[in-house]
This record gives sequence, structure tokens and C-alpha cells, in this order.
Amino acid sequence: MPLHHESLLVLSETRPLIEARGREVVVRAFQILFIRRPETRFIVRPDVSHPELVLSLLDQTLASISSPDDLMAMFSRVAEAHVNARVQVEWMDGFCDAFVMSMEELLGTSATPRMLAAWRELMRFVVRELAERQEFLYREQRSYLRKAQLGFLVS
Ligand code: HEM
Repeated sequence: MPLHHESLLVLSETRPLIEARGREVVVRAFQILFIRRPETRFIVRPDVSHPELVLSLLDQTLASISSPDDLMAMFSRVAEAHVNARVQVEWMDGFCDAFVMSMEELLGTSATPRMLAAWRELMRFVVRELAERQEFLYREQRSYLRKAQLGFLVS
């Protein structure tokens, strides 16, 4: 199981709070990321509702937490969309930190240390999985480009 049993319990207990305030939390997390990594501002499209995408991926992750194949397929699809949009691997950990900061800021004392630790664990798991697959796809692209350049030089 990729998450601690205790964290899964806390996640399910505190899910109603995230269902109610999750959109605000993710919007604020992106604002924090935009300040810390200004280059990310130009990547997230205003016409795509990314906060809903993030929240629904967290939900789907919890729903598939004991099915490694489903998780793999889901993360691969999102990593591919990220790579197509040039989302960089090194931004992902920053988003996880911003998400937890945003929870602390917006939820105040309702966000207990147990709750923050559990949501950090879930978000860290997701961003690390995405980052790993994005890294793989970027490496493949670089290798393809190198081969294409070599082919061009030889011909
Ligand atoms: C680190 C900062 C991030 C940036 C800059 C970013 C940016 C993007 C962009 C530009 C897209 C493509 C949307 C489009 O134009 O079609 C996208 C898709 C998506 N992102 Fe992110 N993202 C970030 C982090 C995350 C995180 C942490 C999650 C999940 C917890 C996530 C979940 C998704 C999902 C589910 C999609 C849709 C994939 C699909 O098409 O099926 N993103 N993201």
C-alpha cells in the first residue's frame, strides 16, 4: 500500500472538509506556486479548470489506492498531458509544499497536524509519481531528438 493505513483513515475522515473547501485550497496553492515559480504562470491555462483536475485526481488516487495498474495508467495519462504542456518535473514538489501551506492558511485550526500530515502524504505520493513519469517521458523525447539529429548529420 503506497500510503500509511493511519493516513488513509484520516483522509477519509477529513474528506468532507476538502470536498467543501478543496477548490479554494488548490486555487490558493497555485497562487503560492506562481509567486515562488513565476514561470509556471504562463503554463496553467485560464480556460482549463485545473483545480477540478487536481481534486479529481486525488479522489481517483484514493479510489484506486490498492490497484497499482490503475494508478499507473492514470498517472501515465496525466504525466503525458503535463509533458505536452511543458510542465516541468521540478515544479511538482513545489506544488505539494504550496498545497499544504494553502491548507494551513485557509483552514486555520480545522487543519490539525494529523490532517495536514495525511494530505501532504497523499499529495506527495501523487506529485512524485507524476514527476517520475514526466522525467521518463522527457528523457525519451531527448533521446529521440538526439537520434534524429544524429540521423540528420549522417545522411
Ligand atoms: C506543478 C504544477 C502544475 C502545473 C503547472 C500543471 C499544469 C497542467 C497543464 C498545463 C495541464 C494541461 C491542461 C490542458 O491545457 O489541457 C495539466 C493537466 C492536468 N493536470 Fe496539472 N499541473 C500541475 C500540477 C498538477 C498536480 C499536482 C496534479 C494532481 C494532483 C495535476 C493534475 C492534472 C490533471 C488530472 C490534468 C488533466 C490530464 C488529462 O488531460 O487527462 N496537475 N496540468
